[in-house]
Amino acid sequence: MNPRHSFRYRLSALAPLLMSLAAISPAAFSQTAAPPAKVSAPAPTSRWNGMTEKRLDELLSRMTLAEKIGQLSQGQVYRPDVEDLVREGRIGSVIAGRRPMNDSLQHIAVEKSRLGIPLLIAYDVIHGYRTIFPIPLGQAAAWDPHLTEEAARIAAREAASQWIRWTYAPMVDIARDPRWGRIAEGAGEDPYLGSILGAAMVRGFQGNNLRDPEHVAACAKHFAAYGAAEGGRDYNTVDMSERTLRDVYLPPFESCVNAHVATFMTAFADVNGVPATANPFLLHQVLRDEWKFRGVVISDADAIHELAKHGLVADDKEAARQAFLAGVDVEMFTSCYRDNLEALVAEGKVPLQEIDDSVRRVLLLKMELGLFDKPFERPNPDTVLLRKDHLETARQFARESIVLLKNGARGLPLWRELPAIAVIGPLADNGREQLGTWHGQGDGRDSITPLQAIRDEVGKTARVNYAIGLNSCASTNRDGFDEAVRAAKDSTVTVMFVGEDAGQSGEAASRSSLSLPGAQLDLIRAVHATGTPLVIVLMAGRPLEIGELLDLAPAVVMAWHPGTMGGPAIADVLFGDYSPSGKLPVSWPRTVGQIPIYYDHMSTGRPWLDPFKLQGRGGGGFITGYSDLPHTPQFPFGYGLSYTQFDYSNLRVDPQHIKLGESVHVTARITNVGSRPGDEVAQLYVRDLVASVPQPVRELKGFQRLTLDPGQSKVVEFTLPTGALAFHNREMKLVTEPGRYQLWISGDSATGQPVEFEIE
Ligand code: BGC
Repeated sequence: MNPRHSFRYRLSALAPLLMSLAAISPAAFSQTAAPPAKVSAPAPTSRWNGMTEKRLDELLSRMTLAEKIGQLSQGQVYRPDVEDLVREGRIGSVIAGRRPMNDSLQHIAVEKSRLGIPLLIAYDVIHGYRTIFPIPLGQAAAWDPHLTEEAARIAAREAASQWIRWTYAPMVDIARDPRWGRIAEGAGEDPYLGSILGAAMVRGFQGNNLRDPEHVAACAKHFAAYGAAEGGRDYNTVDMSERTLRDVYLPPFESCVNAHVATFMTAFADVNGVPATANPFLLHQVLRDEWKFRGVVISDADAIHELAKHGLVADDKEAARQAFLAGVDVEMFTSCYRDNLEALVAEGKVPLQEIDDSVRRVLLLKMELGLFDKPFERPNPDTVLLRKDHLETARQFARESIVLLKNGARGLPLWRELPAIAVIGPLADNGREQLGTWHGQGDGRDSITPLQAIRDEVGKTARVNYAIGLNSCASTNRDGFDEAVRAAKDSTVTVMFVGEDAGQSGEAASRSSLSLPGAQLDLIRAVHATGTPLVIVLMAGRPLEIGELLDLAPAVVMAWHPGTMGGPAIADVLFGDYSPSGKLPVSWPRTVGQIPIYYDHMSTGRPWLDPFKLQGRGGGGFITGYSDLPHTPQFPFGYGLSYTQFDYSNLRVDPQHIKLGESVHVTARITNVGSRPGDEVAQLYVRDLVASVPQPVRELKGFQRLTLDPGQSKVVEFTLPTGALAFHNREMKLVTEPGRYQLWISGDSATGQPVEFEIE
């Protein structure tokens, strides 16, 4: 049966249609409250009223079927026919391109189209519009939902100044395979962290009230499980159990629904056999029926047309029918809907009522955005783009995102009085590449590069010997090596900026290897051979294989692609003005052969026991793991060093016996036992020791970022309700089971001593 015909669907599609969009109220966020996705935010105050309904009905009654289908079709601003399509009401939204927008298309929509329905302008505002923040994976490394929200708010304000009122973000795809280039666009491997940060982005983009011209509609994408593409190859098949889907891949999406995200985007992939863009289980059963999502669903670019390439349908007409009936309201890029939905309605294959429901969703979104009343209203671009406080937030965010991976003797921070510093590498002075993938209207000329920042910091007193070494990360041309070696020889310390060019991660940028691209490793070896102490700053969209670098350099830092203010943020860390506090949002593999590797894995019947320590290399016995590598990653999820040290003590859980529906109160004392002030991200993990469906060895359930002066202690507190421990049981019901649980508060996912409690 067509799911849209069900009684339940009908009910849900009528009067309270899109109530959740009516007032985007910020869900009360508390870092001490554990469950992000499985507990609903308070219901939004409805601004749905008779007026809106009347206005919608009235408008709908005047629309031809072609005009209705127009609202379900999205164009591209640079297509030659775009003005005609807008004038004829054959597209209701457009996706903007790399050049700044103007309002000419909106004038055509409002003044020249028959009904004057305003256009909705969309764009991929992923980690900033003009002021570019760290890539989302880097943002996640800051474990700072408040900054995530603020950065999204700034991005919305800047984008709205160019008439953009719909962003295709957040991307909340869980990614456990760094070969997949799009790992850069999301929050990494963990459902809890992904849920918290996804919701924070939604709140930042949408604000309290979508009508506020500084806010934009957000879009949770790519629904669903796109990050699990086989082999990390983009667009590839996804095949996983429903339990893994529900327990790992779906929670961040549900969290966005609970944060009242306005729209959803489908994934390109086929999921358990059915392409996500025509997948009634995902789009209808989960999204509409179970989660009660009332917003707009858009396909990904070309994804409806591509249903034929998947082999699901023979032609665009059937693609339009299946995608629409599965629950896709709006088609992005292609014209399967525009060319076929009218005929499908005439033939009785698509009910007109379904079209009306989808159109109402789109029109209500436009009303909620205030487009009908003030289609040209926008923040003043002269005052908002690259505003001073936007840049300051970008610098703060970039420095919080930096993860100190290794720091040994003669490492960091650098001595400010040093006589000469060599700055070497393809990413030392490249404003564009440091912006990373999907950098909106970010302009490399606005960036402050590490070289500029280092010169600003110490250029008056020290010689800064700069050599690019390689013209790009991908380059294998060694002509610049000699100059780099000379620069290192002439310096007291060398800082190398290596990693990946912006285009080496992101969409369609999967890699089969995680090695440093091009001849960078050779450049590092040549510079290292000078004997000058070496600090390595990595900038990349994913973890890379860095075993040899860790041997060569006393200090290694991961700065991701840090955005417009990456240079000053890195200099703050290098010279000790800021003590690094970032923590990895992904497990960092030793080699590509360990993938997939993630901290919340199952125990197996033969858990790993460190055979390397116990029995010598290769003598591992019959336990899980590899005979040629440790089982552990290079760095665990949640890991990151600081210039100071933190001691965890007094872990307590109270009470130790609770009933279902109750909560435990968990506390630990964290003391800065080093000599510098610093931030620490304390992480709460649990393990359900015995369950009808065995549970992972640890799962993140909460975190808090603390600032501590030397010698200072703070007690972190978490409230963990039993609902936060729920998983999908054998009947696919979300349950918390009685039994014993272990619990840690620690600085990463691999350390700490647990305490226990019991649910009776
Ligand atoms: C990507 C989406 C993006 C869309 C529009 C697609 O290729 O998968 O994430 O929002 O293009 O640019």
